[in-house]
Amino acid sequence: MKVFVTGGAGYIGSHTVLELLKAGHDVVVVDNLCNSSEESLKRVTRLAGRDIVFYNADIRDEKKLEEIVSKEAPFDATIHFAALKAVGESVSIPLKYYENNVGGTFTLLKVLAAHNCKNIVFSSSATVYGQPQSVPIREDFPTPGCTNPYGWTKLMMEQVFRDVQKADGEWNTILLRYFNPIGAHESGEIGEDPAGIPNNLLPYVAQVAIGRLKELSVFGDDYPTVDGTGVRDYIHVVDLALGHLRAIEKLVEKPGFKIYNLGTGNGYSVLQIIKAFEEASSRKVPYAIKPRREGDIAECWADPALAANELGWKAERGIKEMCRDLWNWQSKNPYGFGKPPAGE
Ligand code: NAD
Ligand code: UFG
Repeated sequence: MKVFVTGGAGYIGSHTVLELLKAGHDVVVVDNLCNSSEESLKRVTRLAGRDIVFYNADIRDEKKLEEIVSKEAPFDATIHFAALKAVGESVSIPLKYYENNVGGTFTLLKVLAAHNCKNIVFSSSATVYGQPQSVPIREDFPTPGCTNPYGWTKLMMEQVFRDVQKADGEWNTILLRYFNPIGAHESGEIGEDPAGIPNNLLPYVAQVAIGRLKELSVFGDDYPTVDGTGVRDYIHVVDLALGHLRAIEKLVEKPGFKIYNLGTGNGYSVLQIIKAFEEASSRKVPYAIKPRREGDIAECWADPALAANELGWKAERGIKEMCRDLWNWQSKNPYGFGKPPAGE
C-alpha cells in the first residue's frame, strides 16, 4: 500500500513508519518537525534499508499540503499522528492546541477529500474516557469530557471524523485510542525524545536513571489502587505501531467508522514501574512521594478484546521488554537525537 503519514517523524510515527517499511508499504511523511527531528526518519530508513518520501511542512498550510497531495496521491491510507500533545502546555496555550490539532485536521481532511483519499486512521487517546466508570475500559464507555484542552482537541477531532464519515459514506475511518505508549525500538536507534523536562512517567524515570534528573516525584500514594499510586495500561510502542498496520489492512474491508482501544489490558502502578525499570537498568531510581497531580485519575486500563477480534491485533510485549528497550534507547542516546542542552 501507499501510506500517507502525518507527524511521522515523532515518537509513535517513526516507529510506525519503520514497521510500514518493513512490511513492504511505501510511505510519504509530512511533518513540520515542531516536536521532532529529521534524524529519527534517517535512522528509520537505515534500519529498514528502504527510503521514504519526506516533506517538511505544516498540515495547516493548505496550499503546501495541496501541492504535496497532488503530487503523491492516490494513497491507500492516511495515518494522522500530527498533533501537539503536552497536557500542561495545552492548559496555558489552549488556542495553539485547538488551532494546530483541530484546525490541522480540518485542512488535512479537506485536501484528502478533494483527492478522493478517504481511508484514514487517527491517533486518539484513552484521555477521551475521562474518569472511567470502571476498568477495564471498553470502546462503548461514555466520553463525558476532558480535564484539559489537549484532551478536548482529541474529543473534538473524534466528533469531526464521525460527522464527516456520516455525511460521506465513502470515508473509512478508524479511531485508535491509545493507552500509555512507552519503550523504544529494540535496536535502541529510535525512541521518545521529549523536549525539556518530561511530563510523562517513563521518560522521567529514564532520565533519573541516566543521571540527567535527580529524583522522581510520585504524584500521590493515597489512590484506591494496589499500592496507592496511579495505575495505567503501558503499551510497548512497537506493539502500538503494529496496531496501525492491522488498522490500515482493516480499511481495505471498507469498515465505515470504527473505534478501537490499543492497550494491553494490564495495569501497573507507579511503584511497580519504578521497580521494573530498576531491574531492567540495574540503576536506582530515587523518588519522593508528592501530592496528587491535578486532573489525574486513579486507574485506567483497556479492554483490548475488540481490537483482538476485529483487527487480529494483540500486544505481545510485556513490561520487562518495555523497560529494557527504553533503557537501551536512553543509555545509547542520553540526549535523544540531539546534543546535551546548555548547562548539562
Ligand atoms: P510526537 O510529538 O512525538 O509526534 C507528533 C509529530 O507531529 C511531531 O513529529 C510533530 O513535529 C508533528 N506535528 C505536530 N503538529 C504538526 C503540524 N501542524 N504539521 C505537521 N506536523 C506536525 O507525539 P507522539 O507521542 O508520537 O504522538 C503521536 C500522536 O499520538 C499524537 O496525535 C498524540 O496526540 C497521540 N497520542 C499520543 C500519546 C502518547 O502518550 N505519546 C497517547 C495518546 C495519543
Ligand atoms: N506520574 C508520576 N510522576 C511523574 C509523572 C507521572 O507519579 O513525574 C504518574 C501519574 O500521576 C500517573 C502515571 O504516573 O499516575 C502516568 O502518568 P503519565 O503522565 O505518564 O501518563 P497519563 O496517564 O497521565 O497520560 C498519558 C498522556 C495523555 C494520554 C494518556 C492516555 O500524557 O496525553 O496517557 O493515553 F491521554
